Order: sequence, then structure tokens, then C-alpha cells
Amino acid sequence: MEEKNTIQAQLQEVCRRFRIPGTLTDWKQLTSGNINTTYKVNCVHEGQQTAYLVQRVNTYVFKDPVQMMRNIDLITSHLMKKNEAAGITDRRSRLHFHHTEEGDNYIFLGEEGEQEFWRLSNYVEDALSFDSSDDPRVLRMAGKAFGRFEAQLSDFDAAQLFEVIPNFHNTRLRLETLFGHVQEDPCQRCAEVQEEINAIAKARDFACQLNEKLDRGELFYRVTHNDTKTNNVLFDKDTLEPVNVIDLDTVMPGLAAHDFGDTVRFAANTAEEDEADLSKVSLDLDLFRAFAEGYIGETAGFLTEAELDSMALGAATITLEQASRFLDDYITGDKYFKTNYPGHNLVRTRCQLALFADMMEKYEEMDRIVHEVAAEAKKGENEHVWNYGI
Ligand SMILES: Nc1ncnc2c1ncn2[C@@H]1O[C@H](COP(=O)(O)OP(=O)(O)O)[C@@H](O)[C@H]1O
Ligand SMILES: [Mg+2]
Repeated sequence: MEEKNTIQAQLQEVCRRFRIPGTLTDWKQLTSGNINTTYKVNCVHEGQQTAYLVQRVNTYVFKDPVQMMRNIDLITSHLMKKNEAAGITDRRSRLHFHHTEEGDNYIFLGEEGEQEFWRLSNYVEDALSFDSSDDPRVLRMAGKAFGRFEAQLSDFDAAQLFEVIPNFHNTRLRLETLFGHVQEDPCQRCAEVQEEINAIAKARDFACQLNEKLDRGELFYRVTHNDTKTNNVLFDKDTLEPVNVIDLDTVMPGLAAHDFGDTVRFAANTAEEDEADLSKVSLDLDLFRAFAEGYIGETAGFLTEAELDSMALGAATITLEQASRFLDDYITGDKYFKTNYPGHNLVRTRCQLALFADMMEKYEEMDRIVHEVAAEAKKGENEHVWNYGI
């Protein structure tokens, strides 16, 4: 009860600092994200109830939250202009972070030394998000949401953005880090994971191709979302059309292939990310196609040929990269990812390696689907054509 009262007092203070009119009447915690602490807060002003989304930001993960909020300000302003120019009037497509009297879209609460970082945005009503789904419609709509996001930001200079998590998808560096730790073997766990280490070593050159394409200038950084899971899209509860992309914390310069690839890795796996029974792990090509139809359908008009060629590579690369991150965490003592049992990170590693192996089997098919969907979109055969306001 006391904890509840404390939270309520904090939420009231957040509303006050962001100059929300009226009285806070009720609130609840939303548990579908797993980074920040999220609340839906209802306030009543002159008989009218309005809901807000209040978040305490995880400053362990986001070391420089002020810079992160600056990114979010730039991105949300740009998206708002695009929506206006495109004549999108659905208020739910607008994500707006409120400002304090001083003009900041964040506040610090609490005592010096243990300050918490809070922010407040509009709450998008009548929308659903999915932690996972094996429904191709959800994948298609998620693809459409992230593709539209990429499209609307295609004229935004990514160099303006702060790199929230430096080298987030620098696969070459991730692998160097892993093999450095393999040499050190700080927890004496390497002997039992030789097979996994060898599998990653064998794929190392393959997985560095995106880095090389970037070095050669064949690929370039755009604005990317970097957490393209289905629970970061809000879908209309009746039509499933995407109304908004949320969770802009990791928006920073990146490759389109990473955004595309990470959804495939996470959402088109026939099993969970930590499935121990590897016979259940595979790439579902129907879900892959559905996501590609959504994403490529929205982006084929401006992505370069080299970018389209990099999509299947992105899916496989990011899967191997994730395997390397889980294995790295395992051999350095499970410090980064939350684990539910001893060896959890090793199980995750094996699952990602099994998915990677299956992706390599299906690599040509993935690539063929991407190009087929792109060709269709370019022909204008897609019935749905977005007006991005660009
Ligand atoms: N503006 C919003 N309107 C409605 N629901 C939201 C909004 N922002 C977030 N949510 C809900 O809260 C969940 C967690 O928010 P999110 O920003 O993704 O946090 P995390 O960084 O912890 O993943 C989302 O998956 C979604 O269900
Ligand atoms: Mg989220």
C-alpha cells in the first residue's frame, strides 16, 4: 500500500511538472515492455478525462537519457510534420512528449545521487500491441508500420542523432569482443561451449559483410528504430492497421537491414528466443513473407538496390550477432541479459545458432521473396500506396 502511495505521489508530481491540467484520478502499470517502467495515468479536467503515458526511464540501459530525449524531440517533430503534410488526421498517429515550463521533455525526480528520470506522452487509445504473434496479418502490419517509419524519416539527416548505444549493431566489433573474451575465459566456461564458439568463428567472415559494405560506401546509415518488435507498434484494435510506432529510445543511425533483420529474427522464428528443443526452431517463411510485404512494400520506392540486396543478409547477420551476444554474456558470467536459470544464456545462444543455420538454408528463398515483393511494389501493384508527405 505504501509503495502504491509513493508511486501515486510520484505520478502526481510528474503530471504537475509537465503542466497537465486537472486531477489524477487513477493509474495502472503497463507490463508489456521490459526496459522502462510504464504507467497509464488518467486525469480529469473540467469533467473531461484524458489518459497519459508516464515512464520512468531505465538509466542503467540508457546512460545519457537527456541526449536520448533530444533525439526523440527531433524525431517526433519530424514525424508530426510528415503526418500533417500527408493529411493523416488520426490523432492516434501522433506521439507527443510533453514539455516542462523550462522547455524540457523530461524531468529528474528524487534526491541528488539517486535521481530518477521521467517523461510523459499522450496515451494512444483503442490500440493493441502484441508481445508476439504467429498471425501473418500482424507481421504484415508491423512491417508496414516500421516501413512507413523508415519512409517518413528517409529525408531526415541521421547524423543529427546522438548514438544512444554506441556500436549497437557493429557486428564486427561484437565478434571481436566475443573472441577477446574467449581468449580470457574469465569464468572458465569456454571448454564446454567449444562447439558454439566454432560455429560463430566459422560464420565470422559472412557476418562482417554488412560492415564491409558500409566501409565501401555501398550501404549507408539511415535513421533506424533498433527495437522493431511487434510490441513497439500500436495497431488499430478493429482493423489491425498500424496507428503508430512507439518506443523511440533506440532510434539512431543504423542500417535498414538491421531493422528488417531484427524483426525477422525475433518474430519469424517458429520458437521462442530461448527454446531449448532445437527441433522446434526454424525460420517461418510465411511470416517472413508477410513482414517483407509490409516493410518492403512501404520502402521499395526509395531503398537502393544494395539495400534490398542486404535484407536477407541483415536477418542472418543479426541472428548470428545475437548468438554472439548471448554467448559473450554466458562466458563473462551472465551480467547483461536477465537470466531465469543457470545456463539460460547458453540455451539462448544455441537457439539463435539453430535459427541462423536454418536461415542459411533458406537464404536464397529469403532474398528471392524480398526482390519479388519489391518488384511488385515498384510496379504499383500494391493496392495500398502511402502518402508520406515527402
Ligand atoms: N503512447 C502509448 N500509448 C499507448 N500505449 C503505449 C504507449 N507507449 C507505450 N505503450 C504501451 O506500453 C508498453 C511499453 O512501452 P515501451 O515504450 O515500449 O517501453 P519499453 O521500452 O519498456 O519496451 C508498450 O508495449 C505498449 O503496450
Ligand atoms: Mg517496448
